[in-house]
Amino acid sequence: MSPLRVLIVASEVAPVAKTGGLADVVAALGIELGRKGHDVHVLVPLYRRVREGVADLEPVPGLQGLRIDMGPHTYRVSVVRGTVGGLVVDFLDCPALYDRPGIYTPDRDEHLRFALLSRAALSVCQELGWAPDIVHCNDWHTGLLPLYLKLLSSWEQLFDSTKTVLTIHNIGYQGMFAAEVVHELGLDDARHLLHQEDLAEGRVNLLKTGLIYADVLTTVSRTYAREIQGEELGMGLQEMLRGRDDHLVGIVNGVDYGEWSPEQDRYIPQHYSAETIDGKLENKRALLAVAGLPPGDACMTFGVVSRLVTQKGFSILFEPLSEMLAHHDVRLVVLGSGEPAIEDFFAGLAHRFPQRCAYDKGYNDPLAHLIEAGADAFLMPSRYEPCGLNQMYSLRYGTVPIVRRTGGLADTVELFDPETGEGTGIVFDDFNAEAARWALSVALKLYHQPRLWRRMMLNGMARDFSWTRQAGTYVELYHRLLGREVPAA
Ligand code: ADP
Ligand code: GLC
Repeated sequence: MSPLRVLIVASEVAPVAKTGGLADVVAALGIELGRKGHDVHVLVPLYRRVREGVADLEPVPGLQGLRIDMGPHTYRVSVVRGTVGGLVVDFLDCPALYDRPGIYTPDRDEHLRFALLSRAALSVCQELGWAPDIVHCNDWHTGLLPLYLKLLSSWEQLFDSTKTVLTIHNIGYQGMFAAEVVHELGLDDARHLLHQEDLAEGRVNLLKTGLIYADVLTTVSRTYAREIQGEELGMGLQEMLRGRDDHLVGIVNGVDYGEWSPEQDRYIPQHYSAETIDGKLENKRALLAVAGLPPGDACMTFGVVSRLVTQKGFSILFEPLSEMLAHHDVRLVVLGSGEPAIEDFFAGLAHRFPQRCAYDKGYNDPLAHLIEAGADAFLMPSRYEPCGLNQMYSLRYGTVPIVRRTGGLADTVELFDPETGEGTGIVFDDFNAEAARWALSVALKLYHQPRLWRRMMLNGMARDFSWTRQAGTYVELYHRLLGREVPAA
């Protein structure tokens, strides 16, 4: 099989530039495609935290001080290469845009920060004379890339057989800006190629632009691929997606088991596996200690690691969690930050039940791992969830996921049936407090039937969501897109 040249362009890569699952996916997919023998380049902005956090950054010869014109702006960019989590990543250096504390900013030039990433990705290929077979774009940040490629291809032959894939990780973020930025994006002459109704209404939508021009669209689970074609979760893009239905594929994310496995997790005090599952208890003890909660081997412990945003659905747990903590000697450890209302709720809960609930507002990788290993159950009541990674991590750690049946959660967790002993978690349907309350009560009941609980843990630990298989699905898609024969697996 001939190796493919794949360029992955994204705003995040784990662990150095991460706010959520996108970073994990980019890193893991990059590594897995490389392992399969493909020629992979990953391009991500050189944020300040990357410059400060990656030790071996080296300038890439031939890619220093490139001039990029975008509308009225001229940028000088360079590429530096570094290894993060075992993956070689090219970082786009442009201090004027990226040398800032955050990955995402509320700054007025946010559109330029990511338009430049998209534009520069193509200049880098030109400079290297490297013709990618596939440019794999991710989310709104790279939504302009397929259009820039189309414009460039009118005279640049390098990209004659390049195809673009755009993966939607979250349709809730579309990169919507005032139409005035079209000039700054260097798209004055391409106005007719933008979505005309949007322009007439005074805006430009970068994700939508990508949905129009990418050769293939993917999203990160089958259920979400269906859901975003509907009114409820399409977030205004449903019609357009329905129009491209035959070019929209759902591929569920995988897990990097090198990073997320209880057998070898570098952040947990006691390694364990399905065969040595009792070792999990040590991690529970450590978790409660780290969280500052009283010990309680027999106290059911719930974990949360999440961006605390509306999408994640915690509002339906507000009442049920308060009731549960008031009436049961359980533990709850929450890690995450986001919207003040949700942060305030968890801070309030920790204040009201200091012996039972602990809340850490930080971003903390080691604690995230310890929660996965130490908790008995993991809460994801998402309003919508394109894929979700934590439920898959939880399964691997024998930590029972309690999830709402939506998107990737629906595709990766099966409701446990005490009769048959089949199933991996607790799944509820309705997005309301009553359904969430039901899920918590089922969890508590099952937890006190250790034989059944253990069965459920083991079922989950036996599931395999490794990237090896999922990356294979992307490779098949790439080959099909290029009109090549799909290699035998
Ligand atoms: P999303 O991308 O929507 O945030 P995912 O479930 O796909 O949701 O991925 C979330 C990722 O971010 C997981 O790897 C999770 O462990 C991590 N994460 C979220 N919040 C925190 C936090 N406060 N500290 C450490 N890791 C976090
Ligand atoms: C998004 C989604 C999440 C998904 C992640 C990686 O942030 O919210 O469900 O797992 O992207 O694809």
